[in-house]
Amino acid sequence: RKKVTIQALHDMRQSKTPITMLTAYDYPSALACSSSTLTDITLVGDSLAQVCLGYTSTTQLTLPDMIHHAQAVARGTTHPFLVADMPYGSYYSSVSDAVANAVRLIQEGKVEGLKLEGGREIVEVVRRMTEVGIPVMAHIGLMPQRHCALSGYKVQGKSVEGAKKLVADALALEEAGAFAMLVEAVPQELGKYITERLKIPTIGIGAGPHTSGQVLVYDDMLGTWSGHKAKFVRRFGNLKEVRDQAVLSYGEAVKNGTFPDPQAESYSMDKDEWARFM
Ligand code: KIV
Ligand code: NA
Repeated sequence: RKKVTIQALHDMRQSKTPITMLTAYDYPSALACSSSTLTDITLVGDSLAQVCLGYTSTTQLTLPDMIHHAQAVARGTTHPFLVADMPYGSYYSSVSDAVANAVRLIQEGKVEGLKLEGGREIVEVVRRMTEVGIPVMAHIGLMPQRHCALSGYKVQGKSVEGAKKLVADALALEEAGAFAMLVEAVPQELGKYITERLKIPTIGIGAGPHTSGQVLVYDDMLGTWSGHKAKFVRRFGNLKEVRDQAVLSYGEAVKNGTFPDPQAESYSMDKDEWARFM
């Protein structure tokens, strides 16, 4: 498949062809995302923090952490448009610091676009990045980088005021130049409404079936992640069971002496050579 472009994503929205986005954190997960021609966007999500690095939240993930993993994902990515999350704290202090950090992610991390969590308060950053040609995906609704300020990971926009705020944020971010909008954990009515109000594609996670596309965390989708399962997660595989069974079987085979097999899994010396050696 040809490289997916922003134009192609906009065309998918226009033709109501759902956009498929999936996260990746390293070379093998990037190859897995690219193995399907149906994957449109690969996201180096900062869920990297919990899923791969054992941090307790995305707020602990640093810019160097993200660059290191984005490089590995870039080496395995083929056709999907490649986006990375800007880590917590890397785009709030000033517009120029945000642009400098974005440039590092693109030059060192080798990604094509960046995702930023925030509403109207990050509009100037989104505008500047767009002006200088850095593609920005905005992320509204539940913003995991703000889980402390939000007192947890909760559905957003359930009240009239909350919903109005999200719509105003979405419109402002679109006006500032975002090429797409990720909408996380909002009522499906609002996911649909925001999608209809915007001209750019929306990518939902826990935002119902009416957004322009969907995203899931790779480990949630595969069923390798044994932590909390959000309502919006569907496990398309049960790899944890398969994986842990293989680890157990290997241990059993070593302990009971059936691994390695002397014929199938071992090398042998020529008989005469061995006789001379002895
Ligand atoms: O970091 C992440 O995995 C995300 C989700 C929205 C997929 O941002
Ligand atoms: Na993220």
